[in-house]
Amino acid sequence: MKVLLFGANGQLGTELQRFWMSDELVSITRNECDLRDSFAISRTIRNASPQVILNAAAYTAVDQAESDPENCLAINGVAPGVMATEAARCGALLVHYSTDYVFDGTKAGAYDESDEANPRNQYGKSKLEGERAIQATKANYLLFRTSWVFSPHGKNFVTTMLRLAKERDSLKVVDDQIGSPTSAAAIAGATARVIRIVGNDSKPSAGLYHMTAAGEVTWCGFAREICRRAHFEQTISVTPIRSEDYPTPAHRPKNSRLSNDRFSEKFGFRLSSWQEQLDETLSSLGLAGRPLGGQEVRSSKS
Ligand SMILES: NC(=O)c1ccc[n+]([C@@H]2O[C@H](COP(=O)([O-])OP(=O)(O)OC[C@H]3O[C@@H](n4cnc5c(N)ncnc54)[C@H](OP(=O)(O)O)[C@@H]3O)[C@@H](O)[C@H]2O)c1
Repeated sequence: MKVLLFGANGQLGTELQRFWMSDELVSITRNECDLRDSFAISRTIRNASPQVILNAAAYTAVDQAESDPENCLAINGVAPGVMATEAARCGALLVHYSTDYVFDGTKAGAYDESDEANPRNQYGKSKLEGERAIQATKANYLLFRTSWVFSPHGKNFVTTMLRLAKERDSLKVVDDQIGSPTSAAAIAGATARVIRIVGNDSKPSAGLYHMTAAGEVTWCGFAREICRRAHFEQTISVTPIRSEDYPTPAHRPKNSRLSNDRFSEKFGFRLSSWQEQLDETLSSLGLAGRPLGGQEVRSSKS
């Protein structure tokens, strides 16, 4: 199986590369193909003529997007449609990722795939455009909405908290936004597993799925767990604050919970809990995570 990967240097792109042999994987970085260039995208796909296209590339600077909506839309909204058109032309399966930020966060429970999207920031709007651009083509696609992605590399909430925990003795973290932190490694593993399940020609599995870690937590709760599991709990205090007390250029939804029921019914498995994924990430950084014990909040549903 020939696999073409866009976004090879990102959190998810880095993890995805672990699941295919080098002779079946073509990894593309921004230098090799800028997603603002539709011709470059088409050319890259036609040259590779893959069976599977993985798009892990995206404009992910959520706050910066508020003052740079054109680039954000080109990369997140337009490029996925070009990929899907090319995927349909060469008969490839397109795997693309989207976000909880397509929702406004006002629902009481977890969002499912049939809930109406209503993004409240430029990043969310651009990601929704990308979803719709793919859906408007005849491509065979898997579209996975995920949330709060972290990994041992790159700039993300876990690496930021670990840095701040070394530098400071107190932190204030937003406690009124709830979601499911999900590791790039878990998303990559689940992606590879789904591709094995569906093969590259089973159109009936195509569609939109929510794919996040099991369990839920606020950013503040997540920060506390990072500090606790990385053994900083004695040296730092983490204080909860409201979103209003930490203004950012981009509005963020209060409720980012995504139901994974459709995913598990279709593919027969769920992702592990965010606590397990956090432990794996800390372990890979040489910071032993806590052994799972009685206090563990485990959830079979996301
Ligand atoms: N991060 C999150 O919290 C989060 C939450 C929900 C959903 N998602 C979605 O999950 C997917 C993976 O996210 P991630 O966290 O792995 O993202 P990431 O670490 O920010 O990586 C994004 C990649 O896209 C590349 N890229 C950016 N602009 C580009 C351009 N113009 N042309 C080509 N490549 C470009 C970047 O290249 P450089 O390495 O050169 O910068 C980077 O390698 C994305 O679809 C994202 O929207 C992420």
